[in-house]
Amino acid sequence: MSSAAADDLPDADLPADLPAEGAATITPYRDGPLIVRGDFRLVDQDGAEIDPGRKTVALCRCGKSGIKPFCDGSHKRSGFSAPSAPSRPRPAAAILRQARRPDTD
Ligand code: FES
Repeated sequence: MSSAAADDLPDADLPADLPAEGAATITPYRDGPLIVRGDFRLVDQDGAEIDPGRKTVALCRCGKSGIKPFCDGSHKRSGFSAPSAPSRPRPAAAILRQARRPDTD
């Protein structure tokens, strides 16, 4: 099965493939897709394999791609804007940090 992936994007500013060694790394690109590198499996919600076609893929996070779950570059035309990292911690992360603190009583 041929699939759209990062190499199909019209914008060539995506990173080159890195060796797929070890756990996957998922990088939210500023104003763009999620870049997935490393050892990963892509499956649909029924568990069926989706062939990524290569070791590095760009997954849409703007919702505008015509080839979801892959990015097709539509985020640029739609003016999608999102930071690469969260501007503040998730509430659940704060709760977990609080729970891990040793008692100070
Ligand atoms: S993130 Fe690229 S099309 Fe959605």
